[in-house]
Amino acid sequence: MAMEPGFPKQEPSDFIFNHPSEDGEGAMETNTKEGEVAKVEFEASEIEYVSYGGEHHLPLVMNLVDQELSEPYSIFTYRYFVYLWPQLSFLAFHKGKCVGTVVCKMGEHRNTFRGYIAMLVVIKPYRGKGIATELVTRSIKVMMESGCEEVTLEAEVTNKGALALYGRLGFIRAKRLYHYYLNGVDAFRLKLLFPRPELHPSLPVMADVDDNHSSHHGPSEE
Ligand SMILES: CC(C)(COP(=O)(O)OP(=O)(O)OC[C@H]1O[C@@H](n2cnc3c(N)ncnc32)[C@H](O)[C@@H]1OP(=O)(O)O)[C@@H](O)C(=O)NCCC(=O)NCCS
Repeated sequence: MAMEPGFPKQEPSDFIFNHPSEDGEGAMETNTKEGEVAKVEFEASEIEYVSYGGEHHLPLVMNLVDQELSEPYSIFTYRYFVYLWPQLSFLAFHKGKCVGTVVCKMGEHRNTFRGYIAMLVVIKPYRGKGIATELVTRSIKVMMESGCEEVTLEAEVTNKGALALYGRLGFIRAKRLYHYYLNGVDAFRLKLLFPRPELHPSLPVMADVDDNHSSHHGPSEE
């Protein structure tokens, strides 16, 4: 998904560390044919969202991201995000199994205070049910409450799902970054600007966006 600028895209230790696999108890994904994954039936209310709670969550986050994102990240990159901004990272669980995660940061950037979504993953059997929207919306809400004026991220130009998801949340394509990823694919830098109520009293605030998405039908640097 995204590579935090300032980090090398690959580090020697990238492929050395081991991380425990999730115990698959509870909800199980069923492989039907090769390349085809059966959806798991569940109610939205069965998904539990928790903010990053410490070292015991780290292997779960790493495992999901390593499985699903094209960029390799080192353990130092994960730690950078979750140690400094644990309140911006969330995990989604179904019956004890971690099925999705979002990892973010925030800070000063060129006279703005901005949030950055570094990683977002939902495992295949759980996709299309609003879990990513809920994860991202939670992070954005904390960013907004913390004084961020905007949120950015990068997504592969070929990643239709992510582009649709962020488009639905109001992100715009601010820039195209050529050969941004190690696999040679270009990225779009996406940006969400928060309306400033003092400047635009008539515009909806994030709370409205949140309401819209809580039911799912209703969300490099330079
Ligand atoms: C992208 C990803 C996180 C979406 O997770 P998800 O839980 O399925 O997303 P949601 O259910 O919240 O989707 C919300 C909206 O996004 C859009 N969307 C999500 N996946 C889509 C897809 N594959 N194709 C088209 N639109 C999609 C839809 O508009 C959807 O709303 P709808 O279901 O009402 O049509 C998931 O597919 C994933 O983990 N992909 C691999 C990793 C990745 O690409 N991460 C993002 C990197 S930038």
